[in-house]
Order: sequence, then structure tokens, then C-alpha cells
Amino acid sequence: MKLYFLLIAQSCCKAGFCSVLKSLKLLINVKYGTMNFVYLCDFKTAKEWFSKPEFADRPSWESIKVLEGERRQNKVSGIVFSNGNPWIYNRRFLVHHLQNLGMGKSKIEGLIMREVEGLVEEFKGLTKEPSILPKAIHFAVANVIWQLVSSHRFSLKDEKVQLIRKKLGEISKSFPPFSFIDFYPVVKYFIPRPVLNYIIGLMKIMLDMFRASNSSTARIIRLFLVYMSSLQEIQERIQKEIDKVVPRDSLPGLEHRNELTYLDATINEVLRHSSVLPIGVLRCAAKDVRLEGYDIPKGTAVISLEAFSHSDPTYFETPNEFNPSRFLDGNGKYFPTCDGFQAFGLGKRQCPGEQFARMELYLMISALMQNFTFAPPDDEGQMSIAPSLERSFQIPDMEQKFKIRLRN
Ligand code: HEM
Repeated sequence: MKLYFLLIAQSCCKAGFCSVLKSLKLLINVKYGTMNFVYLCDFKTAKEWFSKPEFADRPSWESIKVLEGERRQNKVSGIVFSNGNPWIYNRRFLVHHLQNLGMGKSKIEGLIMREVEGLVEEFKGLTKEPSILPKAIHFAVANVIWQLVSSHRFSLKDEKVQLIRKKLGEISKSFPPFSFIDFYPVVKYFIPRPVLNYIIGLMKIMLDMFRASNSSTARIIRLFLVYMSSLQEIQERIQKEIDKVVPRDSLPGLEHRNELTYLDATINEVLRHSSVLPIGVLRCAAKDVRLEGYDIPKGTAVISLEAFSHSDPTYFETPNEFNPSRFLDGNGKYFPTCDGFQAFGLGKRQCPGEQFARMELYLMISALMQNFTFAPPDDEGQMSIAPSLERSFQIPDMEQKFKIRLRN
């Protein structure tokens, strides 16, 4: 479904139909089986409507209810796919705890820096011959969340982690959704139901955080390195900026961030140019709504087209061009968002982990840029940043080999 739509959306953008479709405000109403989907392609319409309670819900499809309790009670726990009061409560809980832990501030910096040091060591071992990017990127990102929720960290080389990751992948491929109560039904009889629900709720919030980090933050770091390998001039400019500001015997930290504006602008441009979540995360109409003259029945799935607005020339001049400077003002000051930008979603459901994710991206990427140069495996070769067919046209091939050189 996603693939078909992306193909349509991308061909429309490339064929220059973007402005025609944009003027329609609602792009298209597609029926998949019994379900209606409405795609919003105009950024301002999406921004306005996604801020209203009418579109703050997520669909509650059977496939989304992964836990046995969720299926029984016919509602989803956690944050990403929950609705109503549980969503309000859980989202507040996460935002509150992220704030307490020092989201956007230096308290959490030490925790991330520990992973950054491990990551730099891991990359040093990859400089001898062309190599694909290490899984350690995912472990480092997961380790930060792991430490937040359990104060425990794994070694980036820990075989147990590799095994758990492998087994989880295998299980989710070969088995229907399950929960630990399926395996240990006795739990139901000695833990009171409200306490059990509370524990399950906490588990789901943690799961949401792990999924969000691994599927977005780690992916953006990998993507960033693919982009830099194919855009050597931009990589050099970032490295010069870092060398000017950060002494070679220390890693870039938050105290250097205000001066590393080109780096932050490049991270933002990767978020825009790659549109890593091209159709964002689904919303649905919480009740019957009249939107810009169209009747949208309750339950209709509504999508704001991130990939579309990121390639809309109304908001981004020459949108296909990779140009980090579009996020710098005349004085070289970095601005992280503008009309048309929606990498972290919009309105009431906007990503609550944005500041945290941006900090992690900045600290991990700046350290890698300071210490290594990334290039195609042979000097004449080219890395491809074109969306890969194998990846449903969403992102470039991230299994490409890199030449990773240690910087002196
Ligand atoms: C580069 C990294 C990330 C990107 C690009 C990203 C992007 C997004 C997007 C597009 C949404 C949907 C927003 C909407 O529906 O309008 C979202 C939701 C969410 N994200 Fe992130 N995210 C990132 C990292 C994180 C991290 C690190 C966390 C946790 C600490 C997190 C937690 C969440 C949660 C809990 C939601 C669901 C919010 C809700 O439904 O109310 N995200 N994210």
C-alpha cells in the first residue's frame, strides 16, 4: 500500500504536479479494502487540522493490538498507537520524565557521550578495508534508552545483545503477536489486574521508545553517513567547522553546539531530503468531520504527506537539491524548523522525543565526523542516495560498503 502510494506521490512530485495537487488541498481519497484513506498534501492544511482533537487519534486496527490484553480490551496501550485518556496520560508521563532527565540539557549528555566513545572505538576497527556500517549504531542508540529506563548498559560487542536482536527479528518474522502472559499465564493469578495493566502500560511505553529510537534515530545516523560519502564537499565543510571549534583531543559536546551550525543544518537537511517517514504516522478521524468542504467519516485514516511537503517548492527552493544552507539565516544562525518541515510530525501527536533525538544525532554524528572520513569503497565509485527499490522506495540502500578513514 505504502509502496503504491509512494510511487504515485514521487512520480507526481517529479512530474511537477505538486503544485496542482497542492491546490486541491486534499490529495486523494483511496479505499483499501473496507478502509478509507485521505492523504493531505498541503502542509498548512495538515498543520491546521492535525492540531485539532478531531485528528488526534490513531487507527485502532487489529494488527496494531500486539498484546493479548489489548486485543481482549479492544484498546491499545503505550503512546504511539493509544487513544483517549491512556494516550494523554502516557504521553504526559514520557514528556515529564524526559524533562526530568534533562532533555535538551547537559544532564543526559554524559549518558550519550559514553555511547559516543564506544562508537568511535568500534569505527576505528573498520578502517582497514571497505565495510558496511556496524550494528553498533543501533546498540549505542538503544543503550541510551536502556540506561534511561533501567540504569543498565550493554557492551556494544555484547554477544547477548546481538543474540537478542537476532532472535527478536526471527520471532517477529515467524510468529503471530504474543505477550509474556501467553507464556506465563500464572502471572494473571498472583498479580492484581490493575497492577498488571500498569506494568503492561509501562512496558509498552518503553517499547515505543525503543522502536522510535531504533527505527528513526539510528536510521538517520546511518543515512547521514551515506549522504556524506556521496557529498564529499559537504563532509569537508563540516569537518573544517568542527576542527575550528573543537580541540582534537576532545569530542564535540553540547557546549560547542551553537558554533557547529552547519553540522546541525546538514542533519536537518538529511531529515528533509530523505523524508525517512514519508507518510508520517497514521492518524484517523475521531468523529465525522467536514474538512475544506469534504465530509470525512469517523474512522477514516488520514495521512499528512511528509515526503510531499518536503519536496514542495513553495516551502523549499529547488527541493531536490541537497542544500544544508537552507536551514541557516543570513548571519549563519541555524533554524531547525520552518513551514513545510514535518520530519517530527505535526500538531497534537508531534514527536515528544524530538529534542532528545536531535541531541543524540548531534553528539553521535559530530564525533564520527571529527574522527573519520566516509567515502565510497573505491575512489572512482559513487554511493547512491537514491531511494532503493528493495526499501520500498523509502530510503537509500544502507548495506552499501564504505571506505572509512581515520582522520589525523
Ligand atoms: C530522528 C529521530 C526521530 C524522528 C524522525 C521521529 C519522528 C516521529 C514522527 C514523524 C512521529 C509521528 C508524529 C505525528 O503523528 O504527527 C513520532 C511520534 C513519536 N515519537 Fe518520534 N521520532 C524520532 C525519535 C524519537 C525518540 C528518540 C523518541 C523517544 C524518546 C520518540 C518517541 C515518539 C513517540 C512516543 C511518538 C508518538 C507520539 C504520540 O502519538 O503522541 N521519537 N516521531
